[in-house]
Amino acid sequence: MKFFVDTADTAEIAALAASGLLDGVTTNPTLIAKSGRPMGAVIAEICKLVHGPVSAEVTATDHAGMMREAAVLRAIAHNVAIKVPLTPDGLRTCRALTDDGVMVNVTLCFSAAQAILAAKAGAAFVSPFVGRLDDIGEDGMGLIATILEIYRNYPGFKTEVLVASVRGPAHVVEAARLGAHVATVPPAVLHQLFAHPLTEKGLAGFLADWAKTGQTIAG
Ligand code: E4P
Repeated sequence: MKFFVDTADTAEIAALAASGLLDGVTTNPTLIAKSGRPMGAVIAEICKLVHGPVSAEVTATDHAGMMREAAVLRAIAHNVAIKVPLTPDGLRTCRALTDDGVMVNVTLCFSAAQAILAAKAGAAFVSPFVGRLDDIGEDGMGLIATILEIYRNYPGFKTEVLVASVRGPAHVVEAARLGAHVATVPPAVLHQLFAHPLTEKGLAGFLADWAKTGQTIAG
C-alpha cells in the first residue's frame, strides 16, 4: 500500500519524506490557500522533496481552461499528477492528458458509478472521499470496497484507488484490509499511525533497565 500525504505544508512534507515512508503528495485548492504561498512555487518545492506523484489540482471548470492550466502545472516537474474534478469536462480532460502520457488524479469521487467513469477515462488515480461521506451518514469505506470489487472484474482498468478525506488511523487500516492501492493521509493522522501506549511504555522500561547497566553500544 502506498502512503501519500495530504498537505501543501512543505516543512511537514520534508520531515515525512525523511522517514522514507512517503510515496507521494496530494494537494487541493484549499490546502494551497492554507499555505499562503503561490501554487507554482509550492508544487515545485514539493516535487523536489518527493519523487512520487504530486497532485496539483486545476481550478478551471471547462475543458479548454483545464487543459491550459494542466499545461502550466505539468511543466513544473515530471512527477506532477494533474488533479481534475469528477465532472464531464474533468473526465474529458483526464482522457486527453492520459493519452498524452500525463498522470491524472480524478478527485471528488463519491459514488461507484463515478469511479467507473474515472477508470474508463484512463485515470491513474481515482480519489473517493471517505471522510466526507461518513460526515453525511454514508459509508465511505463501503464505497472503497465496492469500487475495488468492480475494478477487479476488469483487469483492463489500470486506475488505482486513492482513499482520500481520511480522518484517522481506522480509515487507513480498513483501506489496507480492503486492498486499496493508496491512502492520502493528513500529517496528523500519519503521526498517529506510529502511536501505541504499549510501545511507549515498553521503550521507557527497556531504557530504564539499560541505564542501570552503565553500558553504551556505540561508545
Ligand atoms: C484528496 O486528495 C483531498 O485533498 C482530501 O483528501 C480532502 O480531504 P478533506 O475532506 O479532509 O478536505
